[in-house]
Amino acid sequence: MMRPALPPAVAFEAAENEGSNPTRQPTIGDLIATRLSRRDLVKGLAAVSVATELIWPEALAAAPALDKPVPDNQAASFDFVELPVAPYSETHRVAEGYDADILIRWGDAVLPDAPAFEPGKPDPAAQMKQFGYNNDFLGFIPLDGSASHGLLVVNHEYTNGELMLPGLAPRSDKNADFSAVTREIVDTEMMAHGGSVIEIRRENGKWQVVPGSRYARRITAETDMAISGPAAGHDRMKTSADPTGTRVKGMLNNCAGGVTPWGTWLTCEENVNGYFWGKDPDAPMTRDERALARYGIPGEWYAWGQHHDRFNVRREPNEPNRFGWVVEIDPLDPASTPVKRTALGRFKHEGAGNIVNRDGRFVVYQGDDERFDYVYRFVTEGKVDIANRTANRDLLDRGTLSVARFHADGTGEWLPLVHSQPNKDGQVWLSEAFGFKDQGDVLIHTRLAADMLGATRMDRPEDIDVNPKTGKVYVMLTNNAKRKATETDAANPRAENLFGHIIEIVPDGGDHAAPTFRWEILLKCGSPEVAEVGATFAAGTTANGWFGMPDNCAVDADGRLWVATDGNQPKRTGRADGIWAVETEGAGRATSRCFFQVPIGAEMCGPCFTPDLETFFVAVQHPGETLDDAETASTFEKPSTRWPDFKDGMPPRPAVVAITRKGGGKIAG
Ligand code: FEO
Ligand code: CA
Ligand code: CA
Repeated sequence: MMRPALPPAVAFEAAENEGSNPTRQPTIGDLIATRLSRRDLVKGLAAVSVATELIWPEALAAAPALDKPVPDNQAASFDFVELPVAPYSETHRVAEGYDADILIRWGDAVLPDAPAFEPGKPDPAAQMKQFGYNNDFLGFIPLDGSASHGLLVVNHEYTNGELMLPGLAPRSDKNADFSAVTREIVDTEMMAHGGSVIEIRRENGKWQVVPGSRYARRITAETDMAISGPAAGHDRMKTSADPTGTRVKGMLNNCAGGVTPWGTWLTCEENVNGYFWGKDPDAPMTRDERALARYGIPGEWYAWGQHHDRFNVRREPNEPNRFGWVVEIDPLDPASTPVKRTALGRFKHEGAGNIVNRDGRFVVYQGDDERFDYVYRFVTEGKVDIANRTANRDLLDRGTLSVARFHADGTGEWLPLVHSQPNKDGQVWLSEAFGFKDQGDVLIHTRLAADMLGATRMDRPEDIDVNPKTGKVYVMLTNNAKRKATETDAANPRAENLFGHIIEIVPDGGDHAAPTFRWEILLKCGSPEVAEVGATFAAGTTANGWFGMPDNCAVDADGRLWVATDGNQPKRTGRADGIWAVETEGAGRATSRCFFQVPIGAEMCGPCFTPDLETFFVAVQHPGETLDDAETASTFEKPSTRWPDFKDGMPPRPAVVAITRKGGGKIAG
């Protein structure tokens, strides 16, 4: 096994988010000049006892609790004993008194006739029937009103070829030679993307996938989908395979999402740029190509363009316009056609946190996960009809998409992205004069439209969720090491923001459709032990309780905030990614506690509760991915962990974990 060692620096980059917002005039190759010296890092890590040499997992199992017990005077909403953090571990870890059982893994059967998983063998036909790779968003849709029986909808965001199959380079390797990537491998990757619908049931306290379910479904990068809303049929959506601009094959890089009150699944396309080929640095750029570049297209992270013309922008220039949307899927009808809802805009969607506004309109909050990109809100024109689910079928096709501007005085406004509409100064920005012929253009080029309106450039907006009890909205801003001191603002106050922060938005008058809001920073993340980091965890937070890089989140039915992280590593924060419970109200506000940690190399995704709060589903994504400081790459042949099977020859497998309380009862209840 690899044995990671502490590196001399803490600079790091998230390969999938290069920052493409030119309004800040980014310097290419402007890598992080971190404030943290090695001495500071060691000081920070000393708090978790890994200052000089990391301990390999065998030793961690016996590791003592790392800090004082959780104070009972502050963290009052969550009743659990904090998990002592580990810098890394071969397997997952959960707070004492809880079980964390594997529900389904990459390669397990989804469709009834799925063949058994065979490690190391590309097989598109098998993969299209099996559970896909890199499970991300999880949504639970109860059947018959039951909290113990329902459908679990799962996004499969992307693939890690180097861990799935022998002989492949990591996705993050920008000089990867794609010559070894055969058509069969590409097609297997395409089948491992998309999503899964599985029927699950809890019996005798344990969750199982119901075999042979009539609801079982795999969505892939080839599934037929419809395009609806204002951009459907637009000239920029037309391709040689689809001259109507209304049908598309597949969805890509589906990251987080949401479940609607009428029981549909909103699944959000994020880093779609990486799939497209066609870089030509010598060709003069057309306006359309400049627009593609604002989206980081073509990214050339995968070999798909080598075998499929539609993923090469030189051959099919409009194909990328058909990706980067929110897709609505009805999991109760396995024959239904997934629909790309263009009214919600096109960008690197993280999720689709939502609420029914007090006037009955449906409101979706969305982050665009890129450095210096934006926070959005969509408000439907029509109202939700809870009694008649089919009445909501096309609700998401009409409404207003807006982008957030955060003012320094703690107020903010939603700027409507509406063609030809004057702003409050009477200026019309979204018009033909500025390259937007119609509303379809505004939506296909949402990022460019938001640039025109002067939206606030954020530190990588990830998940946004609404507290059903209070109506407060939590925005995860994961990090932005590229923000310079001259570029800080009230909502993004830290230069070289390595560890991210969380903003709380309060809609004016409790109205989620209001044009204005108030906001404040709930939490600046990172080590409270290192003064220069400027973290603001409340005093009751222990050395286990703080975290960096908030990514996904869930607000449970009791209104409690749970944060899933992406990017904590031994050399960055001295801890693996996981789930932290964060107090949002009262004296304990901004106190945080560790509940769960992922196995080495993984990222934490998909936090999702059953309605009775007795089960907490989480998604472990890319277990075994190479750590920053690893001496050798973690690969199929020699992975850093073989979680969750731990069998020779079996690669690590992304999997969904069901967390329940030993003996039953509410999670942290
Ligand atoms: Fe797929 Fe923003 O993470
Ligand atoms: Ca994410
Ligand atoms: Ca993530």
